[in-house]
Amino acid sequence: MTDLLLLPGDGIGPEVTAQARRVAETVAPDLKIEERLFGGCSLAAYGTPLTDETLAAAKGARAVLMGAVDGTQWAGAPRDKRPEAGLLNLRAGMEVYANLRPALCFPALADASTLKRHLVEGLDLMIVRELTGGIYFGSPRFIEDLPGGGRRAVDTQVYTTAEIERVARVAFQLARGRRNLVHSAEKSNVMDSGLLWRQVVTDLHAREFPDVRLEHILADNAAMQIVRDPRQFDVLVTDNLFGDILSDAAAMLTGSLGMLPSAALGDAGRPGLYEPIHGSAPDIAGQGLANPLASILSLEMAFRWSLDRPETADRILAAVVRALDAGARTRDLGGSLTTVQMGDAVLAAL
Ligand code: IPM
Ligand code: MG
Repeated sequence: MTDLLLLPGDGIGPEVTAQARRVAETVAPDLKIEERLFGGCSLAAYGTPLTDETLAAAKGARAVLMGAVDGTQWAGAPRDKRPEAGLLNLRAGMEVYANLRPALCFPALADASTLKRHLVEGLDLMIVRELTGGIYFGSPRFIEDLPGGGRRAVDTQVYTTAEIERVARVAFQLARGRRNLVHSAEKSNVMDSGLLWRQVVTDLHAREFPDVRLEHILADNAAMQIVRDPRQFDVLVTDNLFGDILSDAAAMLTGSLGMLPSAALGDAGRPGLYEPIHGSAPDIAGQGLANPLASILSLEMAFRWSLDRPETADRILAAVVRALDAGARTRDLGGSLTTVQMGDAVLAAL
């Protein structure tokens, strides 16, 4: 059985994933690692961003580490052939409904944030984004021509009780191991799906998690609070679209999008999908400028959540902290190290 399936993908994905691979081979030489094409490079080779074989390999591995997919070259392709569709199909096919996106401010980087140091120092926020439902997957969705000219586009936001409950349960469980506080963000003031979201979270809380503090917050207010006073949050659970947006904002608090890992988890015992949240960054791809830390920290999460090696995860995290403390910086962090040199710095710290 493959322990770790690597899907480096496109853009800077292969560069950063190669550094995570070096780290994995160093801390766990016994690990069975496999690598496959995914995203735009799979589309070019096989005519589809995600082949059936690759999806089967992902479901059969213990953990999947993805790099990034790049849609810019394929902007004109039909939606179901786009690299992004491959990513959505991978998430849905693996049934990884709970996306953990931590925003952790490393002490050495407190001045790299666009917010003032006193607002972000010590920040440890966990966004739990619903990942396999909502407007990303709802039907109907289409663009149609209108008889009098012009067109009409429809997307559908849809959530069931079960979908809300399972992701909220992950958030409450996580909070118990942290500061015991969950904020649940929706737009219950204007959306029926938001109303249901609030009711289901309230009921689940009363039934299973009365010991955890729960606050409901409107998603727009959450966006404002994230940049006003991010440390008031512990765990923030929200839907697929709001989670996409709020996690980009939260990521920037930490100094660079190049620092942020993520874990997408399904039911216990199923493989997790790990990905840096930075995307393919086509403007710097192939130049050795990308920061590999988000990928290395995604690997760290894989050791913790899927590979049952928390001590190995701790070692990786400590090495990243040591490398940063020693001044290792890629360009996004105001330094001049290349992708490989940053990998070297983490390996040296190990
Ligand atoms: C993310 C990305 C993806 C998303 C894109 C690439 C489809 O922005 O993982 O946050 O919207 O989920
Ligand atoms: Mg996003």
